Amino acid sequence: MPLTGPKEMFERAYREGYAVGAFNVNNMEIIQGIVAAGAEEKAPIILQVSAGARKYAGQGYIVKLVEAALNECDLPIVLHLDHGADFQICKDCIDGGFTSVMFDGSHLPYEENIAVTKQVVEYAHPRGVWVEAELGRLAGVEEHVSSEKSIYTDPDQAVDFVKRSGCDSLAIAIGTSHGAYKFTGEAKLDFDRLQTITNMLPGYPLVLHGASSVPQEFVAMANQHGGKLGSAKGVPEDLLRRAASMGVCKINIDSDIRLAMTANIRKYLDENPEKFDPRDYLKPAREAVKNMVQHKIRTVLGCSNKI
Ligand code: G3H
Ligand code: 13P
Ligand code: ZN
Repeated sequence: MPLTGPKEMFERAYREGYAVGAFNVNNMEIIQGIVAAGAEEKAPIILQVSAGARKYAGQGYIVKLVEAALNECDLPIVLHLDHGADFQICKDCIDGGFTSVMFDGSHLPYEENIAVTKQVVEYAHPRGVWVEAELGRLAGVEEHVSSEKSIYTDPDQAVDFVKRSGCDSLAIAIGTSHGAYKFTGEAKLDFDRLQTITNMLPGYPLVLHGASSVPQEFVAMANQHGGKLGSAKGVPEDLLRRAASMGVCKINIDSDIRLAMTANIRKYLDENPEKFDPRDYLKPAREAVKNMVQHKIRTVLGCSNKI
């Protein structure tokens, strides 16, 4: 099956009140783990690549790995650029075969965010490529944006932004953040704000970034085997399920993949100090990614059997 775009995926997700998982990828084992989970669950999948991942692996390698995955399974898979920082990277990914790109102008002045998003839309749409944009600011660190405080998305601005930029989906800020340290106290999302945005943009697909749950079993496993992850805390799964039923069609997960892999690699190497073949420790790491993603699909995103 060739790569697909998110349009039909999101239309159905919106209608039926579930979300599609967007998983960050940067190597073969991560891609294999995610795709194996999708295949067992018969779930649509979004594989997304950040600028850092693209630099690490090389766009050519990523595209070929994703092509290999497509040949191995019969799943609808979207290849998406995560947090594109400017027009050029979006263009390069569109030209390189991605079916969806994100332009992230959340750190820019409002009018500039609209202008560049519109420029990306004008390049992407004639080529059949989907455009995600972002309005509001998440706390936490990404490669090109670092923000100590979040600025929640203003619903009136969201309507104006979508209308004027022409973006196909919108990432909103309602209390999530990137990374493994999301909440110091109680984990809370601004569901009233989400409901207002959904009411004002009926049928329009919203995106939730920073949506890892930081499973405590991985934090404990990493810490038991030499890690120092302290008070890592993520978004509780029931909050994600609720968001998925309120117009959020795409839920972004990266940190949980990193934790699943690293915790298992630490454990393996700690318990088998004589081993040095990377295949020995990457195999359980890949299996852990698969099991974690399968759990998300089945019990958090609700997108099993939706292909
Ligand atoms: O939103 C950020 C993603 O987790 C990607 O992170 O820029 O370190 O690859 P990265
Ligand atoms: P997490 O750090 O919560 O996994 O967020 C990932 C993300 O938003 C990628 O764009
Ligand atoms: Zn993100």
